[in-house]
Amino acid sequence: MITVKEFGKTKDGKEVSLYSIKNSMGMQADVTDFGAILVNLFVPTAGGDKLDVVLGYDKLSDYETSGSCFGATIGPSANRIKGAKFTINGTEYSILANENGNNLHSDGEHGFHKVVWDARVNDDENSVTFSLKQEDGALGFPGNRTFTVTYKVTDDGEVAIIYTGASDKDTVMNLTNHSYFNLDGHDSGSMEESTVMIKADRYTEIVPGAIPTGNLPEVAGTPMDLTSPHKVSEHCDDAFEQLVLTSGYDHNYVISKETDGVEKVAEVMAAKSGIIMEVYTDLPGIQFYAGNFIDTHTGKGGASYARRMGLCLETQYFPNAINEPAFESPVFGPNKPYNTTTIYKFI
Ligand code: BGC
Repeated sequence: MITVKEFGKTKDGKEVSLYSIKNSMGMQADVTDFGAILVNLFVPTAGGDKLDVVLGYDKLSDYETSGSCFGATIGPSANRIKGAKFTINGTEYSILANENGNNLHSDGEHGFHKVVWDARVNDDENSVTFSLKQEDGALGFPGNRTFTVTYKVTDDGEVAIIYTGASDKDTVMNLTNHSYFNLDGHDSGSMEESTVMIKADRYTEIVPGAIPTGNLPEVAGTPMDLTSPHKVSEHCDDAFEQLVLTSGYDHNYVISKETDGVEKVAEVMAAKSGIIMEVYTDLPGIQFYAGNFIDTHTGKGGASYARRMGLCLETQYFPNAINEPAFESPVFGPNKPYNTTTIYKFI
């Protein structure tokens, strides 16, 4: 069932709504047309409670000003692009250099998570579809483009996020969802005692500034190995060079895929609540970010947020894939529409 209410006005006066998508088991995802953001995600526990498992804000104005990307749809390019430039079909494109001369998450002020999308409620599918048009050259990326992001809540406990993109020119399409999960509740403090498993035998090694070297080292025998479940706290602060560079896990894992389709790639288990989240995707990579840089500040319901209070599992093409020929290409265009699905399933 889907209901809609007002979520306020943007600073330039646009009305924004909050769509609540509920299933028959009491799960509820609240999503807004501002940034196609997942604002709240209520998950029932075996004990009969309902916990909101994503960090966020009560007020639209906080989403407008915050740099944390809570719940955000990041696009058109998630993660980093080296030197904030890339070449497609012989033409070089320059985009915003917003982190050490590189690009992070396209644009923190005008990116996909900072604009109002069109919205359509699909009652028959229990989903809401947000759509966004981008003119050729917007944010420095080529192509007249149309994107959609659909949030669907199923009776199997799934929040499915389906992305599509079409363009009249070849361009970069690499959207992700940047939710910070804390399966003991967004207001329960550190998530470091929760357990993470990622089905990946390799990861993209990085240099300072978190740009991949192109090497894909094996996780085996290192603190990066999450092929079996480990508490985040177990190795997050190990003196392992790759982890020191990013003050904890903030790495793209190379998913050990078994099919071309949507398959299970990760699992998180709460420390206390009993909630388990499975992640499914058809994409080749997943950024595990342990919330190492969450500023100390106030979030939903007056909750006090700080470092490591939420973790992100951002499904994606590999960081800087546009400049790294050995990585699967994030280029889509007239002959190659973009269509990808990620599912967060709660059990
Ligand atoms: C990046 C982090 C960054 C965070 C917030 C993550 O996707 O990997 O390095 O701090 O987003 O922008």
